[in-house]
Amino acid sequence: MNLEVPGRKNQRETNAIPQTSLGLSMFTYALWGIFALTSLSGIFLMVYYIPTFAQAFSSVEQLNEQVPFGWMIRRVHGAGGNFFLILMLLYLLRVFYKGEYKVEPRAPWVLGIFSLFITVWANFSGFLLPLSQRAFWGTAAVLSNLSTIPWIGSFSVDFLRGGKELGGVALTRFYSMHIGFSTILALLLFWQHWLGKKEKKTADANNQKFQNGLFASAVAGLLLAAVAFAPSWFSDPLQEAVNPMVNPERVSPPWYLLFLEETLKFLVVAYPAWSVAGLVAILLLLIFLPYIDRNPEKSLLLRPVALALGGAFGVVLIYFSLLGTASARYGERIILPDRPISAAEIRGAQVFAERNCAYCHQVFGREGRREGPDMAVVRQRNRSPEWIQRFVLNARLYQPGTTMPRYEIPLEDLEALSTYLLSLDWRDRKFKAIDRKLFLDYGQYLNGQEGSATRNSLPAIAGEKSP
Ligand code: HEC
Repeated sequence: MNLEVPGRKNQRETNAIPQTSLGLSMFTYALWGIFALTSLSGIFLMVYYIPTFAQAFSSVEQLNEQVPFGWMIRRVHGAGGNFFLILMLLYLLRVFYKGEYKVEPRAPWVLGIFSLFITVWANFSGFLLPLSQRAFWGTAAVLSNLSTIPWIGSFSVDFLRGGKELGGVALTRFYSMHIGFSTILALLLFWQHWLGKKEKKTADANNQKFQNGLFASAVAGLLLAAVAFAPSWFSDPLQEAVNPMVNPERVSPPWYLLFLEETLKFLVVAYPAWSVAGLVAILLLLIFLPYIDRNPEKSLLLRPVALALGGAFGVVLIYFSLLGTASARYGERIILPDRPISAAEIRGAQVFAERNCAYCHQVFGREGRREGPDMAVVRQRNRSPEWIQRFVLNARLYQPGTTMPRYEIPLEDLEALSTYLLSLDWRDRKFKAIDRKLFLDYGQYLNGQEGSATRNSLPAIAGEKSP
């Protein structure tokens, strides 16, 4: 009778795996610390922040400039959110490569993956809140990428925005999501902590405490350094207030979503149905990894399948992120037809550059993000100059719900713009690419008598012919 109880207990003891506690608690200390810092600074920011489209930017600016230590608290909050995400990633990476997800309890891994998604979302919804040009257009870029997910994309994005426009309603939604998701994150952390508590303590608890302390101090030091020396990495530099009518010269999504742009483009262009199925499979595999991978081996080198899958996943993610940073640079060169061109065409190309149409349009598959169609289609689709002009003035009349902004452009420039767009012939894809700044300053010398001399001195990458 009595014998049974110790027997059970013994068995439990062998099942409770001491090795996990080190990895878990090393990160838990740091994660908890950062979470506390970020939440406290967040509560402080909430006091000053006004979540309306008209006042958000100025309220943050005021906080930054007039409230004592407001700037510091903003930076701590921004860096804290990003650090939390980085730590979460490192933690999961470590659990994966040490095979720690293979031991009971297996739930922390699942919780970890969910926490990761929620952390990304809490960060991303916070990215919009300062409502600077960078915040607004970076968010717009991510949302327009998400809307390309087959079937559910555009519906979900409309839901997130509360409509077709990224405006006041969207801001309120993002604000609530930011706070709501951070709260959920706190709950998940508690849960994970509670699960971790069930584990047995290792013998050399002192040594472990020392390591935890060391790690936490290292993280704190890095955070301080980020706040002091690299504020614009993690918190918005508040350069320009939002203007939904004017897309800025250079925008990019936050670093943790850089991979989206190229990944989704890749998916949608390839077989949408299969690629979405693949995506769902990867997600399920990621979430339920501890229940799928039943191989008890923990050393990474003896787990070739896990190593190959994990490695491939990492490489693809990094590759697409790098592609994403590359495409964050666009419109640095202006594409012109490779033949003598008229003054109107030159002026049109200048307007195209001044208004940063390359933010959404490529020309001959170059120098732009691919949100809208390549501008060479305009001629292919037999658009009339008047149609183009009216479209640019107010695209929503033709395509309700399009992301293309309205433009106020003087008639003369508008005519030049349509002339330029119609000069781009898809069938005869000979073009030259000219440095943006040079072109804006000296473009008018491209034609005319003094042309030949200046033309040669412009660093034109001429005659690049597409296949
Ligand atoms: C924020 C993104 C964005 C910006 C910036 C933008 N566009 Fe667009 N544009 C689009 C999208 C998206 C479409 C496709 C219309 C649709 O279906 O929504 C489009 C369509 C067009 C079309 C119609 C193509 C056709 O023949 O069907 C023209 C012309 C055009 N844009 C010109 C411009 C010009 C010129 C500028 C700069 C002054 C510009 N766009 C800036 C997103 C943008």
